Amino acid sequence: MNRVEIADGVYWVGAIDWNLRDFHGYLTPRGTTYNAYIIKDSVVALVDTVKAGFFDELRRRIEAITDPGIIDYVIVNHVEMDHSGSLSRVMEVASDATVVATEKGSEELQMLYDCDGWAIKTVKTGDTVSLGEKTLSFIETPMLHWPDNMVTYVAEDRLLLSNDAFGQHIASSKRYSDEYPGVLDDAAKYYANILMPFSPLIAKTLQKIGEMEIEIDVIAPSHGMIWRDPGIILDAYQGWSSGESNDTAILVYDTMWGSTEKMALAIAQGIIDAGFEVKVYHLRRSDWSEIVREILEAKIVLVGSPTINNGIFPSVGGFLTYLRGLRPKDKVGFAFGSYGWGGGAVKAIESELEKTGIKVVDSISVKFVPGADDLDACARLAWKVVDEARNFNSAISHP
Ligand code: FEO
Repeated sequence: MNRVEIADGVYWVGAIDWNLRDFHGYLTPRGTTYNAYIIKDSVVALVDTVKAGFFDELRRRIEAITDPGIIDYVIVNHVEMDHSGSLSRVMEVASDATVVATEKGSEELQMLYDCDGWAIKTVKTGDTVSLGEKTLSFIETPMLHWPDNMVTYVAEDRLLLSNDAFGQHIASSKRYSDEYPGVLDDAAKYYANILMPFSPLIAKTLQKIGEMEIEIDVIAPSHGMIWRDPGIILDAYQGWSSGESNDTAILVYDTMWGSTEKMALAIAQGIIDAGFEVKVYHLRRSDWSEIVREILEAKIVLVGSPTINNGIFPSVGGFLTYLRGLRPKDKVGFAFGSYGWGGGAVKAIESELEKTGIKVVDSISVKFVPGADDLDACARLAWKVVDEARNFNSAISHP
């Protein structure tokens, strides 16, 4: 098995999950990797493990570097099971190793696994472990995206082992972002679907790391490609976490007999005429995780649904629930839809958008089938939301 040395004495020993297509609801058409790293010094450390079921691949990659039985430290940057799922198997082989985790990580490991007999060392920001020539430093990153998270820094190699942060769900024989065109798009999708709710915290963490003045030449996350030019992904995270956006509207809808779809298309044309780009998604024919990736960088979110049983169409309701949890920053939008008699969907969408933190500028409902005047009203509302987006985004400041 080939050895992938990412810095002097630091090796990628992860596993490639070619067939993962769904990461608890986030669709992953390109699979993923669970990256783990061996740092071989006079003392040997394994940083993170891999999902259960991939232990044999991890073990074979470690064996190409060293005897797994001599591992001294197993660094658990994050206890989520895609990274800790093989920890018990690792500890069977490396039975003298010390597990290193944050205090929260240590507590959670003991809830997830039978840790009897394991030596566990808890660390906090600023703590270090010497491996001989190299020293591991730890920085806690709580709630990015679980309470236990931390990252590990190797000053001698200017290497940040960042776990979930800066990752992407890509299975590939390539290991580096500069070898994989389109990697930033996958990183954006990953950010939008996993990290977007924590954007304010990410902005603060980036600032904190900046103030620590640590030099970073390589960022090695625990999913996907390794960044040898970390400025690219650090700049992208700066923009995403501060809510930077493009002059784009994302319009999502569902339809029963085509009326809400007619409204959607009239609104979309209005957005184009008002000078913004628009992207339109039928919610039963589109990948929600891809839509959310588009919303990350858009200024406007428009949601349409017919009324069914006095409420929102199920696909639209499900999508709004997903979006609400992800809390996109600094968006404006409106609700639209058709109804037959009582109505109800548009009001309910407005309420959901407000709970999501999206500024609702107006709404429009049409009884049964929209006529020419209704479609004109849809187009006028599109102009209104574009105006609002321009004003709204010039009123907020981004660092
Ligand atoms: Fe990749 Fe939070 O686990």
